[in-house]
Amino acid sequence: MNRMIAPSVLSADFARLGEQVEMINRSEADWLHVDVMDGVFVPNISFGFPVMEALKRCSQKPLDVHLMIVHPEKYVERFCDAGAWSVGFHLEAVDDPEPALQLIRNKGVRTCLTINPDIDVKRLLPYLDKVDMVLLMSVFAGFGGQAFIPETLDKIRFVREEIDRQGLNTLIEVDGGINVNNAKDVFAAGADVLVAGHAVFRTKDPLRAIQQMKA
Ligand code: DX5
Ligand code: ZN
Repeated sequence: MNRMIAPSVLSADFARLGEQVEMINRSEADWLHVDVMDGVFVPNISFGFPVMEALKRCSQKPLDVHLMIVHPEKYVERFCDAGAWSVGFHLEAVDDPEPALQLIRNKGVRTCLTINPDIDVKRLLPYLDKVDMVLLMSVFAGFGGQAFIPETLDKIRFVREEIDRQGLNTLIEVDGGINVNNAKDVFAAGADVLVAGHAVFRTKDPLRAIQQMKA
């Protein structure tokens, strides 16, 4: 089983972004998670291409892009061109995810579909064999620093069982409210990758926090 950590740059100190990314480069983190919000799909605005391009220049970790935007099909190619390693968007943001998924695949970039906590996890089932990763939100998308929703654990187990039953390699990523205390349970439920914002960037010893979450 993988036990990967993707620190979310959303919680970084943007006045020292380069240093913060250097710190992640030196850490045991696996990916750098990039949260893009449009103020429409979620009630918050984060950052877009200029920041993505800056991250690409200084990050040695693969960039795991999480789009919280409407009409992802308009922008997925630009995120691929900007150097994304993986591009994910919300299933509930589109009528049919297939066109946007195909645009990402055509760029040779990994695909991810994500759902907010109020979306029935069964809606992901038809896509488990069509994407590289599913992202289960364990808070409502929009803000860092929220509390982990415990019901997510059952959803992770459900998706894990289905992925294993079908013999797929699809990864399960979990995002929101992850910290050194609950990471163990989230991995045990069947997650491969945990996103952590506050638990990395808002702690005294981020490198140690990353190690502890992976341990
Ligand atoms: C929330 C974002 C998360 C967020 C996680 O909309 O998708 O990636 O940055 O932050 P924490 O780990 O602080 O909950
Ligand atoms: Zn995210």
